Amino acid sequence: MAVVENMFDPTLYSKVRLPPLEAETMPPWCYTSPEFYRREIDRMFKKVWNFIGREDEIPNPGDYKALDLFDEPIIILRDKAGQLRAFANTCRHRGTRLLQGSGNCRVISCPYHSWAYALNGDLIGTPGMEQTLNFDKKQYGLIPLRLETWAGFVFVSFDEKGESLLEYLGDLPEKLASHRLEDMVCVRRREYDLACNWKIYLENAMEEYHTATVHKTSIGKQITIREDSHGAWDGMFMPQKTTIALLPEDLANAFPPIPTLDSKAAGGTYFFVIYPSTFFAATQDCIWWLQEFPTAPNRTTISIGSCFPRSTVARPDFDEKVRAYYQRWDKALPEDNAISELQQEGISSSYSRAGRLSYQEPVVGDIANWVLDKVLA
Ligand code: FES
Ligand SMILES: [Fe+2]
Repeated sequence: MAVVENMFDPTLYSKVRLPPLEAETMPPWCYTSPEFYRREIDRMFKKVWNFIGREDEIPNPGDYKALDLFDEPIIILRDKAGQLRAFANTCRHRGTRLLQGSGNCRVISCPYHSWAYALNGDLIGTPGMEQTLNFDKKQYGLIPLRLETWAGFVFVSFDEKGESLLEYLGDLPEKLASHRLEDMVCVRRREYDLACNWKIYLENAMEEYHTATVHKTSIGKQITIREDSHGAWDGMFMPQKTTIALLPEDLANAFPPIPTLDSKAAGGTYFFVIYPSTFFAATQDCIWWLQEFPTAPNRTTISIGSCFPRSTVARPDFDEKVRAYYQRWDKALPEDNAISELQQEGISSSYSRAGRLSYQEPVVGDIANWVLDKVLA
């Protein structure tokens, strides 16, 4: 890696800031340096809305999911009244992690000394604390985190203040209104733990340049048009009359299109990044997301979630027909996984330098600028 004295000096990035066809890519250290990564977590991921899953993954009161987001253990749950909540996953007694994995519970009981919390976070059981002086249970409830939803998608923020999720998303909900995302169900999730920086994966998802090479024996070349965006997102539209969630040879077996699609959505597929690190593809019969959860400068957990309209999932032939969709994801995604890990290996070379961009990858430049705006601020 090239040695720089202060990697947060904005003048180092002046060429990254140029319009895409004049710009350089981010320097290699942005993908490898622990220092740069730490700034991304502190100044970006922890300051914005982060997508974490679908509401319908925890449908019933007491359903919970524990996850680690940027080294923060958190709990997402549905309380008795049906409201979704997020808490820091740490006991107010001596800090133990309270929940792991996913499941259903009536109360949250600490595995260490059995303090118990109601699903609204109130501390309700404290065995053995009778003699402790001036101890007021009310002061020791779980620490709540901000949680908001849009069309069934759940987002969490570690920032106590700041804009609402809908302000953050700008005009994206409007673009996708005709897909009726709120009527969809997540039918499958898969995770991959990859040896690459989160930006490498996201950039790959948001450019078409690689498709002719990397996906030549699966989904093939894709041609896209930039979308105008207002809000914390960028996007492209790929005009094509048929769904892209199937391999070309399986197209005869496609589900019917989402009945409410507007004329543009009926004629193609949207690809979006919701900053910082969630990719969405919305095609004519389904949508899927790719979350890039950074776990280290050179490690990322990719989680793919596939959602179909409830009416499609209710079809008697759903289980049989959906297999072809799963095959498409299971074929194309590992191609992106492998190339992303190769890019990480190369970019880690001490001889690696900033490169240039093609007209087929303008969003790669946008991603760089979005990150730099936050990291250098
Ligand atoms: S650490 Fe949770 S009850 Fe003691
Ligand atoms: Fe790809």
